[in-house]
Amino acid sequence: MSSDIGLIGLGTMGAALALNIAEKGFDIAVWNRTTSVTHDFAKGAGDLASRITSTESLEGLVAALSEPRAIILMVPAGDAVDAQIEALRPLMGPDDLIIDAGNANFHDTNRRAREATGPFLGIGVSGGEEGARHGPSIMGGGNRAHWDRVAHILEAISAKYEGTPCATWMGEEGAGHFVKAVHNGIEYADMQMIAEVYGILRDGMGMQAAEIGAVFDRWNEGPLRSYLIEISGKVAGAHDTVTNGPLLDVIVDAAGQKGTGRWTVIEAQHLAAPIPAIEAAVVARNLSSQRDARAAGEALFGAAPKELPAGALSETVLEQAMIAGKILCYAQGFAMISAASDAFGWALPLPDIARVWREGCIIRSDMLNDMAAALTDDPDRNLMLAPDFANLLKLNHDGLREVVAQGALYGLPVPALSSGLAYFDAMRTHRGTANMIQGQRDFFGLHGFARLDDGSTGQHGPWAQG
Ligand code: 6PG
Repeated sequence: MSSDIGLIGLGTMGAALALNIAEKGFDIAVWNRTTSVTHDFAKGAGDLASRITSTESLEGLVAALSEPRAIILMVPAGDAVDAQIEALRPLMGPDDLIIDAGNANFHDTNRRAREATGPFLGIGVSGGEEGARHGPSIMGGGNRAHWDRVAHILEAISAKYEGTPCATWMGEEGAGHFVKAVHNGIEYADMQMIAEVYGILRDGMGMQAAEIGAVFDRWNEGPLRSYLIEISGKVAGAHDTVTNGPLLDVIVDAAGQKGTGRWTVIEAQHLAAPIPAIEAAVVARNLSSQRDARAAGEALFGAAPKELPAGALSETVLEQAMIAGKILCYAQGFAMISAASDAFGWALPLPDIARVWREGCIIRSDMLNDMAAALTDDPDRNLMLAPDFANLLKLNHDGLREVVAQGALYGLPVPALSSGLAYFDAMRTHRGTANMIQGQRDFFGLHGFARLDDGSTGQHGPWAQG
């Protein structure tokens, strides 16, 4: 029997994806570098075992597939992908397709697509293990005809939003991995904003973890309804059997990161695309891991007051801040995608990106459906200017300001929320302050400036004469 598709790499994500593929009715051949892992996987496949062919060599894997072949790589991003392609390509026919479904840096995917001696796709897969097993969000990149060859499989295994598959071709080469990187940047900012509000509830308002969990649970019934709010409620509500107290209270406050958020920020700088909430989130993760330095700072300067006066902030105001912060963060992410589309000659489909993020991925949220509608209406307009989101911002930006102000007064760090607020204020300021910067640049470097009154450019100040 020839299998419909192959998969290399039976780690957590690869194994889950393979079972998902089999469950959707496709025959799949699998291979892992360590054969015992393949055997254990096959043993654990239960009812799905009849659709799975375990192979013990790359040659065996290739031989098990119907032609033209398609093989998904689920190996760690980076050199392992190049090594796997190098080992696999000589065994494959000229029409056989390699699909890198790991969290690749999109520059690597661009390079791999250009160097490829046969069909190649780079696809971003979001949703963690649960998503991979039961329906991830899939952001595809590469040659459209190659995508079309496997689209029926990828759509079948993807999450569905009201029946619509969350699997979409985003563009050539690394477009899918680029969109996944921005997804992860937004993921970082969303998580950071939730962590900031958690800090206010804990340190500013003296709430216990379980009470905080209940706040998130309530928010999950309103406009903030999303996977990240939902799991934050569960994380805050979890019990630790060792201490017999909240688990959250014993988790070390140093965030890990595999680098995708950092890639997004680096790329945003190259593109000159402002994504301050995402940048703040990456910085906050970096700072979080400097625990010794933070302890030394606290010993030297003393802890900030933190405790807010009674009634200074309410659950409602914090919810408003989160709503405004979330809109501003997504607006930044979509604006960055738009900038990349122009810079890289991609036609990244912004409404489809919002649609593909509605289910399956980590940043899935009710708001994304409205974002898809707003971006369909006008993909070139900053999301914060779209009527529905402008209205939401009008209703909620005062709450954001209140939270940022109280955070500043009492030493409760809110970097992502305050970056969102600064972005909002900058984006509603027609007459900014960069005229001073232009004056300074002309003063020390004769860089020239444009005049507001007559529109003339290349002007210099009186300092130029002397
Ligand atoms: C997803 C996640 C997933 C993974 C990140 C975590 O969309 O399913 O983004 O890809 O959780 O790699 O990244 P960090 O380790 O950087 O937090």
